[in-house]
This record gives sequence, C-alpha cells and structure tokens, in this order.
Amino acid sequence: MSNYWSPIVRTIHPYVPGEQPKGLDFIKLNTNENPYPPSPTVLQAIKEALNDIRKYPDPEGYALRKAIGEYYGVSHNNVFVGNGSDEILALSFMAFFMGGRKVLFPDITYTFYEVYSHLFGVDAIVIPLMEDFCIDVQSYCKNIGGVIIANPNAPTGILLTHEEIERIVSTNQDNVVIIDEAYIDFGGESAVGLIDKYDNLLVIQTFSKSRSLAGLRVGFAIGDVALIEGLMRVKDSFNSYPLDRLALAGAEASIKDREYFETTRQKIISTRQWAYEKLLRLGFSVTKSMSNFLFVSHDALNAQTICDALRQRKILVRYFKRPRIDNHIRITVGKMDEMEILIDALKDILNR
Ligand SMILES: Cc1ncc(COP(=O)(O)O)c(C=O)c1O
Repeated sequence: MSNYWSPIVRTIHPYVPGEQPKGLDFIKLNTNENPYPPSPTVLQAIKEALNDIRKYPDPEGYALRKAIGEYYGVSHNNVFVGNGSDEILALSFMAFFMGGRKVLFPDITYTFYEVYSHLFGVDAIVIPLMEDFCIDVQSYCKNIGGVIIANPNAPTGILLTHEEIERIVSTNQDNVVIIDEAYIDFGGESAVGLIDKYDNLLVIQTFSKSRSLAGLRVGFAIGDVALIEGLMRVKDSFNSYPLDRLALAGAEASIKDREYFETTRQKIISTRQWAYEKLLRLGFSVTKSMSNFLFVSHDALNAQTICDALRQRKILVRYFKRPRIDNHIRITVGKMDEMEILIDALKDILNR
C-alpha cells in the first residue's frame, strides 16, 4: 500500500495468472495453452513483418480484420481486434457498462469479469451456477444489465446450446450481451451467426487457445457496426496501436491457414476424449468439457494435495482456492504423451 495510490488502486483485486515456470522441464497443463506450435505460415509472416518494424502498425488492423471477416462471412466493419481478448473485455466494460449500467455473470467463471467490474466501478450481479455447474439460463433473461458469459464456461468447460445463447441475447434487447468464446473451437458452435439478427450481441474470441498464439496477444470481437465503433472510440482514447506489426501479420497468416487449424484442434478434441475416459476410470468426477481443459475432482483425495503431488512430479495443473470449486482441478489438454504421463502420475498418487 502506498499513499500515492489512487482510491481505486487501493481496493482492486488484480487477476492472478497461472504460473509460467522458469525451467523447461515441466509438463505445463495449467494455463490452457495449445501444446502444438502455430502454423508454420505464422512464423514466416512474422519474419517478413520485421522488415517494416521501424514504422508504426496499422492502427485499424484492417488486413487482419478483413481476414477474420472472410473467415466468418462478415464485413471487416463488424470486426474489432485487440491485444488479447482480455484487452477487448476491458474496452467493452468501458464502452458498454461503465458509468451506471450493471453487469451479470456467473459466480464461477473467468475471474477477470469480476476484476474489471471493480476496476471500472460497474455493479456486478453475480448469479450462482446450478448444483451441476450449469448456467441457469433463465436468470439472465431479465434485461436488467449487460451480460457476460463464457461459452464454453471456464473453468467448468460446460457449453450452452446455440438456442440458449439466443434466448439470453433476445431477452436483453436494451443491454449488450458479450459471449466470450475463448474455447469455442474445441467443440461448440459460435454465436457469430446471430450478429445480423441482434445488434446487442458481441462475440469475443482469441488466437491464444485454438490457434496456439498466446504469446502473440491477439483477440477479436465480432458484432454490429455500432458496437465495433464504440470499441474503436474507446481504443482510440486509450492506445491507438494495441497490436504491433508482428502480431497483426502472424494472426492474419494464422486465420488463413484453415487446414492446420483443423488438424490441431481435432487432435486436442480426441486427446480430451481419451483423457476424459481415463480420468473417469480412475474415479474422478469430470464435467462434460467442450474446451481444451478438463475440470475434475476426486472423493478420495483433495484437490490441493493432488496438485502438490503432481507438481513434485513436474506436472503443473491449475487449482483455484475459491468457494464451491476449491476441491477441483483444471487440467489443460496437452499432447497425447503428456496426458499419458499425467494419467500414470495420477494413478501413482491415488495408490499411495
Ligand atoms: C474465458 C476466457 N476468456 C478470455 C481469456 C483471455 O485470453 P487472451 O487474453 O489470451 O486472448 C481467457 C484466458 O485464459 C479465458 O479463459
């Protein structure tokens, strides 16, 4: 605490990211990174972009927005790009919620929503997930404030159907509904198809998970042109160049390489299914995850003990010391050989 801190800095509770260990000898299943490298075309594009590094990047990110638009069949005017989807979430709080509106989100979800609510002074209406960790859709259909839902949700991995998402969007016509689709490519259907019908829907995605570019920091949002314009206004009042030349070029190459994307995401989906079955056989309760992670608990051993024992074996997973989920572990789906080592380690830990 310092006297120089503003009143808001004294009271916020910053987000705590998952550990990035210094050594390379860990199997890292703790931050939902993709175990596969990005498409080789990404590295080539980044190398070429280095030639122009002396110049500022395109503040509008036109070429990348166009490529994302082509991928989803929308105009570049419906696309916004930012420095990771975290930044777009923050800009959205400023553009759509700050200054008097409320925002609704679940008690168990991506914790940045709570952090941004504090930082931007937005009243949060926190709605508990149901007993089985599913989202109580009806509670969001009240048109009393903005809504943010991660679909699939994190850290549960549970997916809402397209119809459920449409119900939430259609019943909140006076408020912006943000669907955070950080993990949608691992088994869900994007809500992007609804943006023509609903001008209050903003879909946010990231290149960090299904496109193996967490280190490049690129996210995007798709929505009605007026929502995109609102985000642009905030961006240009804060940082005109959130994406550097390398990020713009790398992300553009990534979204254009559909074949590589399909292959790696299918590998993750099938490894997830393999690990899901193995974990069930070891006696774990496992949610039906449609993301690149599994959310598990075990009756015989508490989560913290399992995490510590895995760490001793150089395997990192994520543990959240939070109400309702403090006996659960979130395990990122890695490569097949990493998951085999994990399953063997868990067997060993449970046998002791
Ligand atoms: C639900 C959800 N949304 C957004 C993000 C942020 O992703 P990024 O800022 O890397 O695009 C994450 C990262 O873990 C996430 O889990």
